Amino acid sequence: MATPDPRLTAVRVLNRVLPGQGDGESLREVLRDFPLEGADGGLMRDLCFGVCRYLRPLNHWLNQQLDKPLKPSVQPLRLALLAGLYELWFSERPAHAVVNAYPDLCRKLKAGWASGLSNAILRKASRLSADQALADLPPAIRFSLPGWLWKQWQQDWPEQAEALAEASLQPPPFTLRVNRQQHHREALLAQLPEARPGRLTPFSLYLPPRPVNQLPGFADGALSVQDEAAQLPAELLQCPADGRILDACAAPGGKTGQLAERFPEAQLVALELEDKRLARVAENLQRLGHQATLMQGDASQPQSWWDGTPFDAILLDAPCSATGILRRQPDVRWHRKRSDLTALADLQARMLDALWPLLKPGGMLVYATCSVLRQENDRQVEAFLARQPDAQDVTPRPEEATMVAAGWQLFPRAQGPDGFYVACLQKAWGAR
Ligand SMILES: C[S@@+](CC[C@H](N)C(=O)[O-])C[C@H]1O[C@@H](n2cnc3c(N)ncnc32)[C@H](O)[C@@H]1O
Repeated sequence: MATPDPRLTAVRVLNRVLPGQGDGESLREVLRDFPLEGADGGLMRDLCFGVCRYLRPLNHWLNQQLDKPLKPSVQPLRLALLAGLYELWFSERPAHAVVNAYPDLCRKLKAGWASGLSNAILRKASRLSADQALADLPPAIRFSLPGWLWKQWQQDWPEQAEALAEASLQPPPFTLRVNRQQHHREALLAQLPEARPGRLTPFSLYLPPRPVNQLPGFADGALSVQDEAAQLPAELLQCPADGRILDACAAPGGKTGQLAERFPEAQLVALELEDKRLARVAENLQRLGHQATLMQGDASQPQSWWDGTPFDAILLDAPCSATGILRRQPDVRWHRKRSDLTALADLQARMLDALWPLLKPGGMLVYATCSVLRQENDRQVEAFLARQPDAQDVTPRPEEATMVAAGWQLFPRAQGPDGFYVACLQKAWGAR
């Protein structure tokens, strides 16, 4: 059987993710349907991630070259041209090979009429560097952000917005969590000379990217793929060793597994709204060799699943805008709308209010998001603290942390952690 053309496959994936360049499927989910391996898989994924990442400046330049706009019906052709521009400006592949690949791709897309157009556009692009082609663009286009998000970042973080936008365009590092029940991080670092330790959390390490099945002991749970900042909430959660812990929004189970590694004697309950996603938590726990009580339910409506036994600790890793991890999920910047934020912030507030009564006096609730928007983060927690006089912000944060109203806001850093927010909220001992 002929192997699928990686560029053609990339266009097919992108056409499901960016159909009208706004409201398509999630890139991560669609890629599951195209399990291309080896170098072809690498090229296909690079094009998909690259076009999603640089969509706005690539489209801007392409539009300037066209005498007549491309019709929406030839969206696959547009995506192919964007992939060509991305390859020329942001990959190491030789320009002549890139330019020559695209007329053939046009024919495969049944757009043979556009072979000449493709040739002319890509030849012109090949004489420019990305910097030359994309110089002097307005910031929202240069940083490849929807206008509303750029405005919101400027409003939320006037001093950090540019660095945040730059960091959100960089490819993410490959970060792992060492299973402390199986290994000392230092011993693994000694075995893996190309690895370096993370600085935020005690079991994180960075490696040059590779397929997970090439990681030593991965199948037996020695390592898990997890960003360093994403490891913070479960590390900061305080709970007696044999306590009862609720992981309230558990899937796919990254933090459930981490909690099981950190508190192996605890009774761990993993709650998730979506049945299908709960199965992923079970798979993750099985690989790590841990157990938890898995429950399908809505964290904002405990009356439908809670048995009345209070928890010593609760982790609420809430659904959010995911604006702190745009470098890992670059399609999110095109799917997320300004109007989504109100609904998300409302759900987060309802979850906080609904889960707080489930916590024992003296217990801790850790609220976390992978967002860099204040409405979902410190402003959300500030409002919660105003509603709950028996809640106290006890988040440990280093002196150099950005000043926020409550909790700790982290920004994405090149070769470092993702953008993340965490707040440790303690319930007063005298509370009911
Ligand atoms: C940020 S993700 C959690 C990631 C997870 N904690 C991890 O570390 O792998 C948020 C999860 O919350 C789930 N979710 C959304 N609404 C929910 C609700 N009302 N109740 C419980 N879970 C919900 C989503 O399906 C999603 O799996």
